[in-house]
Amino acid sequence: MAEHAFETQVGIIGAGPAGLVLGELLADAGIDNVVLESKDRHYVESRVRAGVLEQSTVELLDQHGLSRNVHAHGMVHDGIYMQFNGERHHIDMRRLTGGRNITVYGQQELVRDLIAHRMETGKALLFEAEAVSISGLDGDADPVIHYRHSGREETLSCRIVAGCDGFHGIARQSIPTESLRTFEREFPYAWLGILAQVAPSSDELVYSFHDRGFALLSMRSPTVSRLYLQVPPEESIEEWPDERIWDELDLRLASPGWKLERGPVIEKSITPMRSFVAEPLRHGRLFLAGDSGHIVPPTGAKGLNLAIADVKVLSDALAAWFAGGDERGLEAYSETCLKRIWNAQNFSTSMTALMHLDPAADAFGLRVQRALQRFTIENLNAKSALANNYVGPPFDTPLTGTGAP
Ligand code: APR
Ligand code: PHB
Repeated sequence: MAEHAFETQVGIIGAGPAGLVLGELLADAGIDNVVLESKDRHYVESRVRAGVLEQSTVELLDQHGLSRNVHAHGMVHDGIYMQFNGERHHIDMRRLTGGRNITVYGQQELVRDLIAHRMETGKALLFEAEAVSISGLDGDADPVIHYRHSGREETLSCRIVAGCDGFHGIARQSIPTESLRTFEREFPYAWLGILAQVAPSSDELVYSFHDRGFALLSMRSPTVSRLYLQVPPEESIEEWPDERIWDELDLRLASPGWKLERGPVIEKSITPMRSFVAEPLRHGRLFLAGDSGHIVPPTGAKGLNLAIADVKVLSDALAAWFAGGDERGLEAYSETCLKRIWNAQNFSTSMTALMHLDPAADAFGLRVQRALQRFTIENLNAKSALANNYVGPPFDTPLTGTGAP
């Protein structure tokens, strides 16, 4: 089939939150970019994912005129509930963080907003355009993305390639294995998630540890709830008719004087949990951002926020490079992002361990876990650390702690 050649300054692979937000930030800095997405628009817009935006994420969307619906339909939460075997405790995040908060807004809604905005403003976004390889990453010449679109083989030549193609994409796989170090952890459980047509039974999210396993009550709107149950990793969704899901949620979320309302289940699926980090997040002119470079377990909902933090760092670095060849931001990209990423891994894996029932835990391990749960609620410093991690650090704060070597 004939090959067509196109070119742009930044070729972005993937129209998830990372690729779409990067495209907007670059365009606002006057940098031309093209987004290639392997799936169709409907598929990308209907993929149900997490739904918590850190304050910094919302502020960045505000600065680029991307937050109209976030403010119109998102729900600002000043706290969360943490529950341990029926005892519910309130974590007042606003007070513990000096006034910061989170906004509950579905990732899928945000992706829909970003796609609509990109279409309205006439920027290039190709659906059903699957990147198959990247050539020229090791020489001085510009790299080229090879992709398939409408049955044709095409090429996109670019100064920079942004690999925003998620965990299973080709960008990370295009880096020679000897140039990349990966760190991975699988968890001995998965999350069964449902969307239900029912008003949320709580004003704020409820994270619940129970002897039967973890459960989470979240929401999408005043009429749609999002709920999760810890299940074994190999569990099949067929084993979970709606009635069984509600019965189990009832048990694990039960708290004196409180009732879980039920409603029609409109979506359900099981997602395995993993932690993953690739280092470095750069190979020559290829930069990895979002899930292509790292995955966190969903407890604490950091994935989307990390993806957006990456592309903020990347777009600032690219603006300086395109403006006058300043390499410093690009050289610091991986290390800058990895600090935030490892901090988020620390938080997400700790919160996961705190709230889940480890199927391999012995009686001693369970007692230690219970002690840590109590400490988290009773010790002001521990509670404050949890709240500050949950709302996330501001984008311009230098991060300290468990950064990459
Ligand atoms: N060519 C083009 N597009 C691709 C390719 C490819 N070869 N491979 C994957 N893609 C697309 C996927 O179809 C998807 O739309 O890349 C996109 C990646 O988007 P996400 O998986 O949403 O990843 P990211 O943008 O990094 O967002 C991170 O999403 O997965 C959640 O928990 C994660 O919340 C976090 C957020
Ligand atoms: C969600 O609403 O989907 C959600 C909320 C909080 C989490 C994870 C997922 O920690």
